[in-house]
Amino acid sequence: MVRKRTKKILLALFLGMTTYVSFQLVYVWKYRFTSLASGEEVDRQMEKIDLRRLTTTPTTSTGSLTTTYTSPQIKHRTFLTTRRSCMQHYDLLMIISSAPGNFQRRNLIRKTWAFERAFRPRWTTVFLVGQTRDEAVSVTLLKEDKAHKDLVRASYYEHYWNQTRKIQMGFEWAVTYCNFSFLLKLDDDVFVHIPRVLSFLSAPNTPKKKLYAGNHYTNNVPFRGGKWKVTYEEYDKTRYPDFCPGFGYILSHDVVSTFVETFSSFPFFRLDDVYVGMLADRNGISVTNNNGFELGHPRGFVCVPTNYTLVRHDVGEECQMKMFKTLMFPD
Ligand SMILES: *[C@@H]1O[C@H](CO)[C@@H](O)[C@H](O)[C@H]1NC(C)=O
Ligand SMILES: *[C@@H]1O[C@H](CO)[C@@H](O)[C@H](O)[C@H]1NC(C)=O
Ligand SMILES: *[C@@H]1O[C@H](CO)[C@@H](O)[C@H](O)[C@H]1NC(C)=O
Repeated sequence: MVRKRTKKILLALFLGMTTYVSFQLVYVWKYRFTSLASGEEVDRQMEKIDLRRLTTTPTTSTGSLTTTYTSPQIKHRTFLTTRRSCMQHYDLLMIISSAPGNFQRRNLIRKTWAFERAFRPRWTTVFLVGQTRDEAVSVTLLKEDKAHKDLVRASYYEHYWNQTRKIQMGFEWAVTYCNFSFLLKLDDDVFVHIPRVLSFLSAPNTPKKKLYAGNHYTNNVPFRGGKWKVTYEEYDKTRYPDFCPGFGYILSHDVVSTFVETFSSFPFFRLDDVYVGMLADRNGISVTNNNGFELGHPRGFVCVPTNYTLVRHDVGEECQMKMFKTLMFPD
């Protein structure tokens, strides 16, 4: 009787220990492969950031809009609220514009081309998400951010005329909290061939500074009517400067940094991709065209990468799966 009970106790102890150890292992694993910092690390990282360049006035708490850990030292220039830092240097930082309700798209991206398990990855992805007046979506977003730690949030309210604010806060987050060589701005309906993007960036004839690469739009005429109407007050010239459509373009670190410096002395413009073209124009940076930035599916290559695809636009859920499978299992 006594021996039986002892056996039971030992068994219970053994099970308890095993569960504990496996939880610890899962934790260690998750911790090691998490590219962005947890609370304490953020604080430690924050201390390393050069505060002299930045204003030291403490910011007032934005209450429920504060989505992550507070670090009162840095005053943001844009609507940015996230204060989480990157843990290491990345060759490629991908920032993805995403609407608050697009949970499915973000999850699919995390599961497909943005899935990375290297110990020291060369790249990382974050999603840029503003505020929504939909309470349920707001709550889910907080949970999503806790689980994935890959949302960069801002306090402005989402609207298609507020996309430029998204770009501004995304660029500010990148240069303030992340160490990277190149930034790839994306929308959440794209497929990215990361190995090819990395080899494009390390190719000897790709400039490492003053780089603004994408699908080169030139001589575009402003729409003067309809939903996307731009008034003469907002823009009075007949043509826009050269720019790249917003689904995907690459900027070198120095360019992003210059752009952030230029925000306050430059008029706001609602069309975010044109706005980036204007910033480039102002700073003497020209567009490098690359046919790998595909606005649509070339004939015969619907949901299949071509042999030069870097970023494919207009990729729905099924298409995303299909393109990813072709990447993983080329025939
Ligand atoms: C950024 O990364 C580079 C290369 O790894 C490193 O030399 C530099 O010290 C890092 N800078 C910061 C601020 O962490
Ligand atoms: C854009 O964001 C600003 C700042 O939060 C807000 O005041 C404005 O209402 C938003 N615009 C639209 C059209 O929702
Ligand atoms: C892509 O394939 C075509 C035809 O097969 C070939 O001519 C071209 O050189 C290839 N391009 C690249 C970048 O490999």
